[in-house]
Amino acid sequence: MLQLAKRMGRAKPSAIMAVAEKAKALKAAGRDIISFSIGVPNFLPGDHVYAAARDALSKDSGQYGSNRGSDALLDAFLKHIAEIGLTGYERKHCSTGIGAKHVLYSLAEALLEEGDTIVYPSPYWTTYQDIADIVNAKAVTLPCPASQNYKLTAQQLDAAMAEHKPKVFLFNNPSNPTGMVYTKEEIEALAEVLVKYPDTWVITDDIYNRMVFDGLGYHNFVHSKPELRDRVIFVDSLSKTYGMPGWRVGFMVGPESVAKALTTLNSNHITNIPEIVTAAAVAALTGPQTVPTDKNIEFQNKRDMVIAAMNAIPGVICPKPQGAFYVFPDISCAFGKAHGVKDIHNDVDFCNVLLEAKGVACVPGSAFGEPKALRISYTCPTAQLEPGLKRIQEFFAELS
Ligand SMILES: Cc1ncc(COP(=O)(O)O)c(C=O)c1O
Repeated sequence: MLQLAKRMGRAKPSAIMAVAEKAKALKAAGRDIISFSIGVPNFLPGDHVYAAARDALSKDSGQYGSNRGSDALLDAFLKHIAEIGLTGYERKHCSTGIGAKHVLYSLAEALLEEGDTIVYPSPYWTTYQDIADIVNAKAVTLPCPASQNYKLTAQQLDAAMAEHKPKVFLFNNPSNPTGMVYTKEEIEALAEVLVKYPDTWVITDDIYNRMVFDGLGYHNFVHSKPELRDRVIFVDSLSKTYGMPGWRVGFMVGPESVAKALTTLNSNHITNIPEIVTAAAVAALTGPQTVPTDKNIEFQNKRDMVIAAMNAIPGVICPKPQGAFYVFPDISCAFGKAHGVKDIHNDVDFCNVLLEAKGVACVPGSAFGEPKALRISYTCPTAQLEPGLKRIQEFFAELS
């Protein structure tokens, strides 16, 4: 029989999508479902973005575009990141992709040989593991439980770098799934460690960098240690900030050699980001920022609602996130209990029974490497948030 490549034996469909599919099926069967599962921003970009896309359509060149990204798009991106203090970069330091996921996949192709080690903190975004598996890299995760606010410490990083000598250290701030944001001091402490290990590339997947609350601000290793610029690769995306996940625009900025490698991969994979999408992306980056600014305020308020609801449940441990649109409560107090006749042994049972009993869809923490927790993505309409949280509280109260 004809065989697929071995790497497909290591590739698996997204665990997050599995929950979403189950919730969708229940909804189709007529159940009242509130979804806290998928990490979609649930808003649309401003009118100027659509106007730019329509205008580009009317002027379509019908040609292939730049493998790196159009000059207008790269310039818009450079201006955008200068606003968060990432200055001194030029077009040659940038490349683009079909979303940050594609950029990350290309980075794995560009930086990792089979068997090389990639280190990242856990909880982690599920795709990191999937990409590492496909390229046959050795993934080492650094456990960061709720008791340390789901954040990596400098000591932990130092020990892991010394022991594993990774080719790549992958970092995510603000975090999906925890929503946690590293302070300036925490970033400085980690950067101090990174300078000691010059043979490790550092990827900062910081696509939620505009979604930071409580005036905390966004901080990157290159702010603290400019000497890290020649090996820090910053990844960004339009998906979450601008409500444009389906438009598929991702970016990187970093060493020229890495940007060039991604551009070469683009020339063999995607060729270019489509012209109409490019025009919409430039408009999003350079036009009025009202939509992302308003959404940030809305998400901060929703974060407060979720945290208040979770902290009101006895036994649940819920560090307060300062960014993105996720809350990641430790719900292990429910393990060993039952809801009606349904036993709850772990996070997957918890999410399944919660969905069946109360119609609330959350993602089990094991999808992110932390089986004691679950992820609540709170971008649903406010009118659904309150009843959804109430249903979770009722569910806990009914456990025996
Ligand atoms: C941490 C993180 N990185 C990257 C991505 C991918 O984003 P994009 O839509 O740009 O591919 C996501 C999407 O959920 C994410 O949460």
